[in-house]
Amino acid sequence: MISQVLRDARRYEETSEKMIAKEERPAFHLSARTGWMNDPNGFSYYDGKYHMFYQYHPYDCHWGPMHWGHAVSSDLLHWEYFPAALAPDEVYDKDGCFSGSAVTLDDGRQLLMYTGVIKEHKKEGTICEIQTQCLAVGDGIDYEKYEKNPVLDAKDLPEGCSQYDFRDPKMWRKEDGTFCCVVGNRPSDGSGQVLIFSSPDGFSWKFENVLIANNSRFGKMWECPDFFELDGKWVLLASPMDMLPVGFEYHNGNGSLCLMGTFDEKEYTFTEEQDQAIDYGIDFYAPQTIQTPDGRRVMIGWMQNWDTCSFRTQNISWFGQMSLPRELSIKNGRLYQTPVRELEQLRCNQVIYQDVSVCGTISLEGIRGRMVDMELTISPEEGQEIYRKFAVRFAQNEQFQTSLSFHPGDSILKIDRKFSGSRRAIIHQRRSLVRSEDGKLKLRIILDRFSVEVFVNDGEQVLTAIIYTDQAADGISFLGDGTVHMNLVKYDLTV
Ligand code: FRU
Repeated sequence: MISQVLRDARRYEETSEKMIAKEERPAFHLSARTGWMNDPNGFSYYDGKYHMFYQYHPYDCHWGPMHWGHAVSSDLLHWEYFPAALAPDEVYDKDGCFSGSAVTLDDGRQLLMYTGVIKEHKKEGTICEIQTQCLAVGDGIDYEKYEKNPVLDAKDLPEGCSQYDFRDPKMWRKEDGTFCCVVGNRPSDGSGQVLIFSSPDGFSWKFENVLIANNSRFGKMWECPDFFELDGKWVLLASPMDMLPVGFEYHNGNGSLCLMGTFDEKEYTFTEEQDQAIDYGIDFYAPQTIQTPDGRRVMIGWMQNWDTCSFRTQNISWFGQMSLPRELSIKNGRLYQTPVRELEQLRCNQVIYQDVSVCGTISLEGIRGRMVDMELTISPEEGQEIYRKFAVRFAQNEQFQTSLSFHPGDSILKIDRKFSGSRRAIIHQRRSLVRSEDGKLKLRIILDRFSVEVFVNDGEQVLTAIIYTDQAADGISFLGDGTVHMNLVKYDLTV
């Protein structure tokens, strides 16, 4: 039975989606069907298609009572909207259906696990959110909430674990068919931790262990954990809130964290070996991964930063986009990300330039556009002193531009959207330390209408930022302070 609250949301989104022209949306990044979108949820492959659910407030372009939006795709790039899947319509989730995940049950139905939120009004006048884990079962379109919800609440938590910060379950099925999930939590020290639970059937759940404690190292509460095996290691992804910066690795505010290590599946213990940021740009949070049928680990994040949500268009009635789907791998102890290979099918109009000498500012015939896949390889000009600076500017016209600049002297790559048309006093730039020997660097730049994603050195690092520059600003130019030797391949991307 579909509740009235969900029926209203479905009716509303169907009508208001029609008010948004295709050109007012990203072309191949998933955006809110209408209203507000945050975290990816329930990213899964079900019944022959990729399913993406998302944190959703259909009625407004600002965060509000959370529903789950829903979209489906065959290639992770062309998305078809499905009716909203969940609405806050039960006593245990009346203040929101927060983030969660999806798996397929043996009987072919899809199981969703999400965080149910209810506000508790305390005597002193403060409000706390009680967070519990809940289930819904469905057929890929309609989902029925489980009659025994919530399946995990304060009773299941060991001493000291907060029932107010207990959210974002990510489930998976083990090889033996049983179920596991990791959930973000806050222990008594106020910083984050990730709890791990197990279940024989997906319905009755049991606490197993504190998989990892933050001990106040990386920010505070850890949101949206994900945990999976990749290239012989176990990888824990988390999105820490309230981070302090650490060198060029971690920046202030909400961040993205990847820990690599080993996992003892019997004892439910994770031994951490290495840490790094997931994305070094401005807008990336709360990623979730899936294993594709052909065995790839693919990650999609919310292409947004909580602290910069005031940066938006005034007249378009959607807010929030997902990042490109990115294939993950581990090389030399680092997490590598490359755009999902399906993107290559969107390429057309190849333009190649070889052995270009960039000295001063130049533009090149055929190199422009706002839906672009462009790969640049730069190095110092042979026989010349190493250049001082290289920059590429895009989404450019007389007034606006976004730029990437690289100084080989200190190996810093900077993304700068200060002149992209923003009228807000927010973060517009970010610097990242990249690996470059003798001024050599490889950049793959993917532009969609409202974003840029830069894959450095074949995916060793990624910098993501949204931009809302007028689409007419489609110029691309290059700058060399000194002489830069450049090879370039550029494609337009069409959907
Ligand atoms: C992360 C987050 C999650 C929560 C959801 C609420 O962006 O805060 O922890 O489930 O958003 O919309």
